[in-house]
Amino acid sequence: MSFRPAGFRPAVVGYAVALVFALSSSVVFAQEAKPAAAATAAQPAAAASAEQAKPAEATAAVKPGDAAAGAGKAAACGACHGMDGNSSDAQYPKLAGQQESYIVRQLTSFKGSKRQNPIMLGMATPLSEQDMHDIGAYFASKASLPGVADQALVERGEQLYRQGDTTKGVPACMACHSIDGRGNPGAIYPQLASQHAQYIEATLKSWHDGTTWGDDAHAQIMPGIAKKLDAKDIAAVASYIEGLHAAEGASGAAAAK
Ligand code: HEC
Ligand code: HEC
Repeated sequence: MSFRPAGFRPAVVGYAVALVFALSSSVVFAQEAKPAAAATAAQPAAAASAEQAKPAEATAAVKPGDAAAGAGKAAACGACHGMDGNSSDAQYPKLAGQQESYIVRQLTSFKGSKRQNPIMLGMATPLSEQDMHDIGAYFASKASLPGVADQALVERGEQLYRQGDTTKGVPACMACHSIDGRGNPGAIYPQLASQHAQYIEATLKSWHDGTTWGDDAHAQIMPGIAKKLDAKDIAAVASYIEGLHAAEGASGAAAAK
């Protein structure tokens, strides 16, 4: 250390000043070291590995969804899905009353291109895992507006939904989606009640024709079932589902027009 107090000061003062200088200069050094380390982390390779490490850390840090925080974050979704999750255009699925766990799973799948849809890839990409939980909690807190089933299709639709079709190897939908169509949040079986028949039909048809939403066991369930349904079955069960009301009691009765 080259610091030297002015010659006329007592040596002890000089020592104290030198100590303070030494301490403060090491503090300065420590502060300078931080940006340097950050700059290293910002280098492409390091940033890529930090990115890979993220999901695990994020999972540990994610809190249950906060519906109030989700309301603001969901503003961009309203144009298609409706501000309260009740879309008026039947090509866009209703999100009102849908489970947080299911919404998070789908947004994660869109973001990772496991479930492929160009619009939803763009919408899900900027969302963090916490955003997905908050948005999911927001839509889950809304009530889905009831739809109506087509009277001509109800009988076959109800049979498929409640009993399945053993001759075709089709299981009863209610075994997983529950008798009133509320689904099962713990198992991530989505709510189907009141969903637009047009969306349900398009979704079942795309699974029937080979589309998948990923390769995990959970994502294999519906394509396996949809392959056993023909176009008439799909139209009937989709219409029945639109008329299912989750609200009153657990009767599972479908309203028909
Ligand atoms: C421009 C229209 C549009 C906007 C805006 C939009 N979505 Fe979507 N969303 C769609 C379409 C179309 C589908 C159906 C995709 C498919 O068929 O696989 C969909 C599907 C979904 C699904 C799956 C629902 C289900 O029942 O499986 C979720 C969840 C979802 N969107 C959430 C959101 C969220 C959250 C936002 C806002 C951050 C948003 N969407 C904004 C068009 C949109
Ligand atoms: C063994 C359980 C099981 C049975 C039985 C079952 N489902 Fe599903 N269903 C699922 C799972 C799991 C998902 C979510 C798939 C995913 O996230 O990849 C799902 C999703 C769906 C969806 C998509 C909902 C949405 O909002 O996009 C529709 C439609 C559907 N099922 C209809 C049916 C119909 C109709 C039947 C009866 C013919 C049926 N399911 C029987 C487990 C089941």
